[in-house]
Amino acid sequence: MRTLFDTTRIGSITLKNRFIRSATWESMADQTGRPTRQLVDLYEGLALGGVGMIITGATIIVPDPTGLPEMLSIADDRYIPTYQEMISKIHRHGVPVVMQITYVGRGGTWTTPTDLSEIELRDLARTYANAAERAQKAGFDGIQIHAGHGYFLSQFQNSGKNKRIDRYGGEVSNRARFILEMYDLVRSRVGNDFGVFIKINCGDFEDEDDRVFETCRYTCNQLSERKIDGIEITGGAGNGLPLPPRGKYEESVLRDYAAMIAEEIETPVMMVGMNRDLILMSELLEKTKISYFSMSRPFIREPDLVMRWKNHQEHKSACTSCNACRKQEIIRCPFRSVPEKMDT
Ligand SMILES: Cc1cc2nc3c(=O)[nH]c(=O)nc-3n(C[C@H](O)[C@H](O)[C@H](O)COP(=O)(O)O)c2cc1C
Repeated sequence: MRTLFDTTRIGSITLKNRFIRSATWESMADQTGRPTRQLVDLYEGLALGGVGMIITGATIIVPDPTGLPEMLSIADDRYIPTYQEMISKIHRHGVPVVMQITYVGRGGTWTTPTDLSEIELRDLARTYANAAERAQKAGFDGIQIHAGHGYFLSQFQNSGKNKRIDRYGGEVSNRARFILEMYDLVRSRVGNDFGVFIKINCGDFEDEDDRVFETCRYTCNQLSERKIDGIEITGGAGNGLPLPPRGKYEESVLRDYAAMIAEEIETPVMMVGMNRDLILMSELLEKTKISYFSMSRPFIREPDLVMRWKNHQEHKSACTSCNACRKQEIIRCPFRSVPEKMDT
């Protein structure tokens, strides 16, 4: 029987449990996009707190004023040494670390699918591949392609937002094409021993007819056949909070979508979005083929959450999903009294 504290392997990556820190823009890079001491400390804190794998905050792949303030960058080779230092510190605690690579836009506005010509798309795929290669050189265990939350790649999936009339728009295979071509190029550059992951929207939840789930399913099946290492199911779009709406469920809100996709593909499925309760996640692990549970806000509140769960099964994440963490000068939970000690 699978348990949340199983040691598992994804390719050459070993995870000591099934909990993942989902990519979280920390607003802790310096003005050049390099990690600050504060950010390295944060990652080390998460590693010490017991998480199975860390995914960095969204990291830009081209110099770009469009992104969020103090975002990490991997836009050229000069970034490699700083990350090497950071990764060696995290690896000391036996925790793998994956860089989330992201394209937001150029020149101050979010790029939409019709903004780029086919030639520019080909260039952009190369830009992703270059970023992945740099992450590999820096010693990351893998990269995660950010195809969620209304960012450039995510818009391709949505039939309302992707207005292209060429091979990259229209029917579902066309809407999936750019992500697949880019994945192939990334894989050809980093080889099979380096982790390649994707975070992908199962729904934008703005418009019932957007056909996002249909495209997501198709893309996940194709990526699985192409041996991607892991697929993180997410949802929600737009400039607001990148969160799925609450409706049917209060917790683990994307469970039906993630379970459906996990049923269809070989690749391990990770699910993010309101995972708060250990007992519920154990049940989902038992009843579905979802393999990993990722969290963002709960780790802002309790970086040592996994350790707490390990010692106290009934412990409930203290995070109330209030989003106050996003309204601070840097990303932090104002309700976190440091340190919150528990009997162990
Ligand atoms: C402060 C903050 C920053 C985030 N930054 C990113 C990011 O850089 N990349 C990303 O894919 N998702 C990002 N997210 C979304 C989370 O990874 C996650 O998908 C979402 O918060 C739902 O999970 P949760 O309920 O565990 O917080 C961010 C969320 C928050 C609250």
